[in-house]
Amino acid sequence: MIEAKNLHKTYNHDLKELQVLKGINLNIKNNEIVCIAGPSGAGKSTLLHLLGGLDYPTSGSVLFDGDDIYKMPFNSLAALRNKDIGFVFQFYHLFSEFNALENVLLPAVVSARFKRKDAENRARQLLSMVGLAKRLTHRPSELSGGEQQRVAIARALINNPRALLCDEPTGNLDSKTGTQILDILFSLNKEKSVTQVLVTHNEEIAKFCTRTIYLKDGQISKN
Ligand SMILES: Nc1ncnc2c1ncn2[C@@H]1O[C@H](COP(=O)(O)OP(=O)(O)OP(=O)(O)O)[C@@H](O)[C@H]1O
Ligand SMILES: [Mg+2]
Repeated sequence: MIEAKNLHKTYNHDLKELQVLKGINLNIKNNEIVCIAGPSGAGKSTLLHLLGGLDYPTSGSVLFDGDDIYKMPFNSLAALRNKDIGFVFQFYHLFSEFNALENVLLPAVVSARFKRKDAENRARQLLSMVGLAKRLTHRPSELSGGEQQRVAIARALINNPRALLCDEPTGNLDSKTGTQILDILFSLNKEKSVTQVLVTHNEEIAKFCTRTIYLKDGQISKN
């Protein structure tokens, strides 16, 4: 479903080149749940962003259902990101001026996939599923870090994505809440066949995944 071919990413910083990804080849099949692990700075978030169509590679390609996403017209890529891929950022990236309910609703408003009332009901259901039924009108600054993380997860699910990419989805959660969130993610995989890529340091998560990919120095060290 998602394939990376000889993916390179180099950042230019202070007139120096920083080679972060050095030729990643990866094939994530439909309905897999793949864990990406590796030390801080190894390039995990960079790789996840590229798999999710959020950044351009320096060279190489990413295929989604066989289509080279970085060769698509911008509008097609934006539509793919909106409808087919749910993304949970490491640092959430919620809109500070919107409350929890509005943040979750936003991708549905963009896609116009549901009627407004249905979208709002769905957003409420998702927020209640992640334990935030009583925080609908809180803005991100009025939510704890773990609550913001859960809003971000609900937002990623609003458009029923086929693939869900999560960057440390339980990084800010206590173990009980973390386990609840993981149960939600794993049941989405089992019951709705949502393909998932999870960046994590948590060995518990890795145990439930189809496989773990270790990134080290911008390369896959074990596949
Ligand atoms: N926009 C950027 N410009 C320059 N360097 C960057 C940029 N983004 C990331 N980097 C560098 O690229 C490397 C990989 O970053 P990345 O965020 O992918 O790491 P990571 O594996 O997700 O780490 P962590 O586990 O700490 O989240 C880091 O050394 C970082 O400093
Ligand atoms: Mg990261």
